[in-house]
Amino acid sequence: MKKKIVVLASGNGSNAERIITFFRENGLAEVTLVITNNPKAGVLERCHRLEVNTMVASRDDFYNNQLIFNKLKNIHPDLIVLAGFLWLIPAEIIRAFRDRIINIHPALLPAYGGKGMYGHHVHEAVIAAKEEKSGITIHFVNEKYDQGDILFQADTLITPDDTPESLAEKIHQLEYRYFPEIIESLL
Ligand code: GAR
Repeated sequence: MKKKIVVLASGNGSNAERIITFFRENGLAEVTLVITNNPKAGVLERCHRLEVNTMVASRDDFYNNQLIFNKLKNIHPDLIVLAGFLWLIPAEIIRAFRDRIINIHPALLPAYGGKGMYGHHVHEAVIAAKEEKSGITIHFVNEKYDQGDILFQADTLITPDDTPESLAEKIHQLEYRYFPEIIESLL
């Protein structure tokens, strides 16, 4: 039987799309649902095109009325994958799915992590600090932003002419290359 993946995404959803198509091609798993907190997220259009189920969830659905918790319990996913998801995962979900929730972060944690450190904010801070390299971190999710055990890192050099935008592109290429493979290795 195919393994079940639930993806959580707040934005554009290019990683979500990569994961969906990777597992469609290899057949090991299926993204059964994509949950977003953002009704305008690009990931919704991508999922519509790819015919993947989506759900838009409010703060109440996450933190108060247990809608998301109950939905996840019903689906019983093998893995919950955060792909550009910006809200903290409630403790009861962490407890119920311990070691089955992972996140990708667009920097080499523990540097450039924590609340507010997402997407372009990360790349702007890395460029402003004149770092020589950056990269991706894939880690388990715990109750604190970006602090769960690290599963995998890959890095890329930053050249003097790099901008936050060009660095974001390099990071995305690393994400597309490694994230589906790391997910596969966990399933
Ligand atoms: C990705 O680069 C991901 O690492 C980052 O958001 C981007 C989402 O891109 N996540 C974080 O910053 C989490 N703190 P996408 O929507 O195109 O997949």
